[in-house]
Amino acid sequence: MIPEKIFDQSIKRYFDCIVPYLEDDSVSEIMINGHDDIWIEVSGKLKKTDAVFENPDDLLGGVKNIAQFVGKTLNELNPRMEARLPDGSRVHVVLPPCARNGVSVAIRRFGEFDLSLQKLIEYGSIHPIGAKFIDLCVQMERNIIVAGGTGSGKTSLLNCVSAKIHDDERIVVIEDSSELQLQQPHTLMLETRGPDAKGRGEVTIGNLFHSAMRLRPDRIVIGEIRGGEALTLLQAMTSGHGGTMSTCHATYPDDTLRRLETMSMMSNVEMPLQALRSQVASAIQIIIQTSRFNDGSRKITHICEVMDLDQNGEYQIRPLFKFRNRGNDPTTGEIIGEHIGCGNMPSFTDHAREQGYTVDERWFQPPPDAR
Ligand SMILES: Nc1ncnc2c1ncn2[C@@H]1O[C@H](COP(=O)(O)OP(=O)(O)OP(=O)(O)O)[C@@H](O)[C@H]1O
Ligand SMILES: [Mg+2]
Repeated sequence: MIPEKIFDQSIKRYFDCIVPYLEDDSVSEIMINGHDDIWIEVSGKLKKTDAVFENPDDLLGGVKNIAQFVGKTLNELNPRMEARLPDGSRVHVVLPPCARNGVSVAIRRFGEFDLSLQKLIEYGSIHPIGAKFIDLCVQMERNIIVAGGTGSGKTSLLNCVSAKIHDDERIVVIEDSSELQLQQPHTLMLETRGPDAKGRGEVTIGNLFHSAMRLRPDRIVIGEIRGGEALTLLQAMTSGHGGTMSTCHATYPDDTLRRLETMSMMSNVEMPLQALRSQVASAIQIIIQTSRFNDGSRKITHICEVMDLDQNGEYQIRPLFKFRNRGNDPTTGEIIGEHIGCGNMPSFTDHAREQGYTVDERWFQPPPDAR
């Protein structure tokens, strides 16, 4: 039986064939590519299942019921939907003809999966010193971008990082579809809204950001930066809203800065490239890069500081920690490697020490064989 909290009674019957996966905590994602092609992700690896819906209409009926359940529109004019179910799972649906395989659905189960920096240490995703440093960056109100590819663990990591914000701060969270689970008592959650069938009533990340700034935030946490709102965000970060954090889809630290630059150009504001670059460089202070490896694991591959532009107007990134990948273990297939310091101290070391925080030079030292 599908747990009540995931699906409403009225839509249960449509999803019988995937119930075992919805109930299995080892399944992190269920992918439906038309009614008779269903895949799951277990321990980071994809597997095809034997499950099939009896006919395409059952599946279509099911996703339309989900839409109704969460109050979203899903029809020929609005053939795409992103929704969050009460248990925290994220559902994305695309209908034919945009989806050539038939109704296409991805359900990301978050359910019972409550990650913390401590758990990430246990999974080998981050080194304890890296976790301690991230905590320091949060306390020092650095502006942080968590970056990575699709499914690399950005949202999970942002959840863990934002958990380090103190309980006495007022946090405003802005998301497209609510995924973050901040536990602090003084948290305001804002969610975007798509236009209705007549194209009215859209509320964008940029709109909500505008509101957030006027809601007296101590911190603003944005689920993901995807478009022109990047510029507003950068401007807020440089105008005294320290400690802002978000995620961005990019695979390497300098790629992350270029993505933010490109997204800022999508806004309607014209700005010379050089001015934009210096805005990016002064707004973003820390990049935490995460990656999904071929053994299904997720690891933090870089923690870097963004410095001022160099004399030629190029970005300068100071690596602080990185993951040294030694390839796959020939028997288990697991990635072998370790997180190491890069030999650089953070620029705010003195400032942090003046405020009473411990910043130990040894944290940042590379091992002898990497010097
Ligand atoms: N450190 C980790 N170790 C193992 N599994 C993880 C880790 N971090 C995240 N996951 C799992 O990986 C999947 C993807 O995580 P998440 O949604 O955070 O990624 P994302 O980069 O935000 O994805 P998207 O690009 O789709 O927004 C989830 O099922 C999550 O439970
Ligand atoms: Mg995400």
